[in-house]
Amino acid sequence: MLKFFKNRRVMQEKIVKMFDEIAPTYDLVNRILTFGIDKNWRKKAIREVLKYSTPKKVLDVACGTGDMIEEWRKNIDCEVIGLDPSNGMLDIAKKRFPDVNFINSYANDIPFESEFDAISISFGIRNVVEIKKAIKEFNKALKKNGVLVILEFTKPKKNSSLTKCVNFYTNKFLPKIGGLLSKNKEAYEYLPNSIEKFYTADELKELLEKENFKVLKIISLNFGQVSIIIAKKGE
Ligand SMILES: C[S@@+](CC[C@H](N)C(=O)[O-])C[C@H]1O[C@@H](n2cnc3c(N)ncnc32)[C@H](O)[C@@H]1O
Repeated sequence: MLKFFKNRRVMQEKIVKMFDEIAPTYDLVNRILTFGIDKNWRKKAIREVLKYSTPKKVLDVACGTGDMIEEWRKNIDCEVIGLDPSNGMLDIAKKRFPDVNFINSYANDIPFESEFDAISISFGIRNVVEIKKAIKEFNKALKKNGVLVILEFTKPKKNSSLTKCVNFYTNKFLPKIGGLLSKNKEAYEYLPNSIEKFYTADELKELLEKENFKVLKIISLNFGQVSIIIAKKGE
């Protein structure tokens, strides 16, 4: 049993170390690999939240270099706090946003209670080893009726021909180009492997509902490869 927990800790530390290593090239590689479309996905995720809530205080979990923080600030006047366990990613975020508060911590260890009107996590939850604990922490950190938005690569429900094309790009091209640009092949092989092992949007919905969230909307993007899930903290 002890070994199981130790393995999970080691696995999580390895993931964070990988982000420390790719931090300097993360933004550039993202823009090139997604042809800049990732920016539109983040914007859409935030605009969907704004249909249900006008948050004054937001926590961006797994904030990385701060792309989601940039999008929050473009779309609404609110206080945003960033949380991430990777010093490499946080150092870049702090330079981009000197006036934002950042916390070095894990999604499954959020040092706040009933504090936020909204929590966002974009392309972060797939990297969280203790995902159920993280969802409990989101619930704890949100105020009553607070909104959670998850933007993530999810396993598609059906394998249509277009999904197969997108998967081909992600599994074959992306690790090669990402590996070349970042000089870290392992990190860009991790991406398709982690998507393959991750949940479908419906499975994520189930996990959220078990932890007292009401899922308000699921939006499927990129031929089912990316999902936006909007959920509200239950009573
Ligand atoms: C792919 S980046 C996403 C960054 C940013 N949210 C974005 O949209 O570009 C994933 C981030 O998740 C962070 N991360 C990894 N494990 C985590 C955990 N257990 N809790 C919170 N963040 C984690 C990494 O350090 C990294 O910054």
